[in-house]
Formats: sequence, structure tokens, C-alpha cells
Amino acid sequence: MNVPLLATDDGELADRDAFRREVLAGLGGSPRAIPAKYLYDARGSALFDAICEQPEYYPTRTEAAILRRHAGEISDLAGAGSALVEFGSGSSVKTRLLLDAMQDLHAYVPIDISRRHLDATAQRLREDYPGLRVDPVTGDYMALDALPPTIDGARRIGFFPGSTIGNLRPEEAVAFLRRARRLLRADGALVLGVDLKKDTQRLHAAYNDAAGITAQFTLNLLRRMNRELEANFDLSAFAHEAFYDEPAGRIEIYFRSLRNQTVMVAGRRYTFIEGERVHTEYSYKYAEADIAELARLGGFSIAHIWTDPARLFAVAFLTQAQNEKARP
Ligand code: TRP
Repeated sequence: MNVPLLATDDGELADRDAFRREVLAGLGGSPRAIPAKYLYDARGSALFDAICEQPEYYPTRTEAAILRRHAGEISDLAGAGSALVEFGSGSSVKTRLLLDAMQDLHAYVPIDISRRHLDATAQRLREDYPGLRVDPVTGDYMALDALPPTIDGARRIGFFPGSTIGNLRPEEAVAFLRRARRLLRADGALVLGVDLKKDTQRLHAAYNDAAGITAQFTLNLLRRMNRELEANFDLSAFAHEAFYDEPAGRIEIYFRSLRNQTVMVAGRRYTFIEGERVHTEYSYKYAEADIAELARLGGFSIAHIWTDPARLFAVAFLTQAQNEKARP
């Protein structure tokens, strides 16, 4: 049987179909690549949460510490009565640091592609923050044109943590900022988490944890293809590979074939030679000056930026650039 007869989610059959199409296109392309969003099935999301707990993976805890330390200032910059809009909210763990600090929040608007995830998160937040209006939006924040009318009249504060902006190519990152700028309107602002450039060894370790959780996370994609696309990847014949390309300023992540082999995926045969790689993700790193430039290209400017004492990670409060304010 190719597909389940009963989908547990409205979008599941369509998702399966898109997964098959994108995998076949990605394995048929040159160089081979599979979009990173497919890393995050239920098991992948759990593994990613485990990555965030690894001692080498400093971004999550460093960003949380910055937010915890400066939540009061962020709240002051946002102003009372604003609406918090999170792009790709996931389980909204870091959001709570802001929700705890912000005054008279008008509403919290989490945007996420997974409706199941959103509903569960919204439910939990409504329980933990009685009186908070939670208006979830299901969709791809890279393609969203409007926010709920319930937040009309409130200042819109965007939140894009986790250095997820680093998983976009620089031109996509600019496109994201321009879209966010329109959605957040002229008087809006964006709280942006960005992983900073630093020594190669530290970056390398963060994506090659000793416990091998990141390796499991990458190889989970093969497991998912086996399960959902009737593929027959031998997980012991492929390896996770991640390294920092310093000139490009990015971590590159792949799975690599450990020998010459043939794999069936959705009825098609793919040959891998020993050492051949399939790309899954980039994680761009930015220096503080790069963040200012990125913000400028996106129509924002840095109102404030906070880092940790070791300057591993930055949280920037971006407002719309002065000369852009008059535009509709
Ligand atoms: N936004 C995270 C980052 O770039 C995503 C991430 C962390 C990731 N570790 C990973 C993606 C390993 C793929 C593989 O740091």
C-alpha cells in the first residue's frame, strides 16, 4: 500500500506527495539535495530537541540566557499593549521568556506550518497564560500575506529566534525580512536571534556532538524515506557530515555514502558512489556587522543588539529603517 487510507491530519496525504516529489527531484538533481524541512517529522523534532540539550550545541541555551537577561529591555522597547508574532513557532519554549516579561500583551500570534503542533502549543499557552489571547496562523511564514485582523491597532512585534534565519540563504533571508517588514507594518519591530561567527572548532563541535545526536538527526531523514517512500536505505552505509566553510560563512550538512551502492526510493533506483554526498542544510553565521547589513537590505535597522559575554550569539531588536517608514 502506498498511502494510508485514513489520514490523521488534513494535510498528511498532500504532505506525503510533496515529500515524494521533492525527494525524487532532489536525488535526481546535481548536486543532490533534500530540503531541510523534511528533517522534522515527529522523531526528527524530538531529536532536534535533544540536539538543543547537547553540551556542544551552545545556541539554544545561549539565546535563552540572552532573552532571560534582557527580557525587560525588550519589553520596554516593544511597549505595552503590543502583539507578539512568532515566525515558525514550534513548541514556543523561548517565547515564554518574552510572554513572562511583556506588559499587557494584546495577543500572541504563533505561525507554524504544522497545525497539529500549533493547536497543541496554543492550548498549552492558554492554560499557562490565562487571559492571553492566542491567535494561531497555520502556514508558511515565507509565503504569508496577512495576519489576523484581531491584532489591528496593536503594535506588531515579530519574533524569529533560534538563528533559523541562518538556515536561509542570504538572499532568502533578505526576502524573509522584507516580508516580515510588510506583515509587521511601519511601526512594527522584529526580535531576531542570530548565531555569530566564531572559531571553526567551536562551530564544528556544535554540529558534530560527541553523543552522535546530530548524526541520528541527519540519518533520520533516510529512515523517514524508508518508511514513507518505500525506500531501502541501509542506515549503516551512510554517515552524517557537517563542517564549517569559513569563506562562505556557513555550516554545511550532508549525508554521505560510505560505499558504492544502489538504493530504491519510491520505485526508482539511485546509485551512490563512495563518498558521494546529499545536502540537507546550511546554517549561515553572521558577524555583528553582517547583521546590520542584512537588516539594512531587509528594510530594517538595529535599534538594539544584545550578546552573551563570550559573544557566541546575538539577539537584535530591529525596527523599520527611517527612510522606509513613509512607504505604504
Ligand atoms: N537553526 C539550527 C541551526 O542552524 C538548526 C540545526 C541545528 C540543524 N543543528 C542542526 C539543522 C543539525 C540540521 C542539522 O543551528
